[in-house]
Amino acid sequence: MSVAGLSPNFKVAFDANSQVFSLAGVIRPRSVDEIADSIAMLRQAIDDVRGVLYVDVKRLIQMNNTAFHAFVRVALDACRARADLRMVIVTSSVVGWTTRMFGHLNQIEPQITVEVYDSTFYPGQSFVEDTSFIPILRTQTKMTWRHERSILPRHGLRPGIAMADVCCGIGDFAVLVQKEFQPARIVALDHSKASLAYAREVATNFGITDIEYTYGDASEMLLEDNQFDFVSCRHSLQIFNERELLLKELYRICKPGGRVYITNEKNSHCLGEPRAQSIQWTYNEVAKLFSHFDMDVELGPKSRRYLADAGFDDILVESFMVTNLDGDPQDFADVITAWENVYAGEMAVRRGDTPEFIERFRQGFRDHIFAALHPKGYAGWPIWVASGRKPT
Ligand SMILES: C[S@@+](CC[C@H](N)C(=O)[O-])C[C@H]1O[C@@H](n2cnc3c(N)ncnc32)[C@H](O)[C@@H]1O
Repeated sequence: MSVAGLSPNFKVAFDANSQVFSLAGVIRPRSVDEIADSIAMLRQAIDDVRGVLYVDVKRLIQMNNTAFHAFVRVALDACRARADLRMVIVTSSVVGWTTRMFGHLNQIEPQITVEVYDSTFYPGQSFVEDTSFIPILRTQTKMTWRHERSILPRHGLRPGIAMADVCCGIGDFAVLVQKEFQPARIVALDHSKASLAYAREVATNFGITDIEYTYGDASEMLLEDNQFDFVSCRHSLQIFNERELLLKELYRICKPGGRVYITNEKNSHCLGEPRAQSIQWTYNEVAKLFSHFDMDVELGPKSRRYLADAGFDDILVESFMVTNLDGDPQDFADVITAWENVYAGEMAVRRGDTPEFIERFRQGFRDHIFAALHPKGYAGWPIWVASGRKPT
């Protein structure tokens, strides 16, 4: 791979193996001469490739007209000279202007197409980014916070630090952390516009002004390297198919000596008494259902391996069980109702399951709720917490 760094804010690179030419950062030259090296690199990339050249602009924050026209001129000339050449410009909704600006090129030159990579970039996206997921997130955090507030200091959370909550969902964790631990800075990032809109509304209603809610893609963040003392990513590694990519980004934005904190589940270990068998059957099926959509809700105990493989040291792992005895049993029941609605009502339907299967699947959730609300019942949902230190 060749890389040209024009300014600290701008990077251009070509990876010959994957035929990807990438532009990232802020590119605002006063004249074309300032970007001559990059233009030459694009020309060279075009000469080297066979078939398709991918132009990756997923992290291109800004580009002025001088640069845009200079790059586009080279691309158009190349397409006219070579009928075999195709160019796919890979944009992202996080830098939405790129889709608009490069989108016009296809009308001028059909050999150039634009793909918005994050419109369907992980298989479970349509469920997780939907508003129906909001009640799940709201009830879950309410239940887990009781445990996590005492666990978090062991994993490095303390007042005055800079932290990022990546895949923050509706941002409630960030609000709780801010109240309890007073970090100096909190960035909360997610790719669900519905969840972020909800988070911002809650923040406005409660007069919270110092959480930086950010729309972004966790696997291609625009945040700079080595910025945060503490990076959390809760219940999210398990729903994303490219887990190594996500961990690489969490590692990148963490300061050396800082910690990355992840929480994940092992759904097949959800339990309850009475009606244990029906409950067990349903949660085994939950794990299979998620795996059908490339999500791994059995990931919890694998956290240690994931963190070690991503290069972290001083890895700490612990687990806790959210139960109906933690507080109001109705809170527990609300979590399960929210799961039933989305897992049985939407995901199983999308998989094409039969009405008989869905009815049995629903029964296990109802039995879990029965166990939670029964005066002598017990219901549990286990969570694995793990963190690792980025070596100095
Ligand atoms: C199961 S939810 C967990 C949300 C929150 N951390 C919590 O515990 O309540 C997963 C979240 O990850 C977000 N997400 C998944 N992939 C993402 C990506 N590539 N970039 C940013 N957010 C992503 C989803 O939009 C969703 O809000």
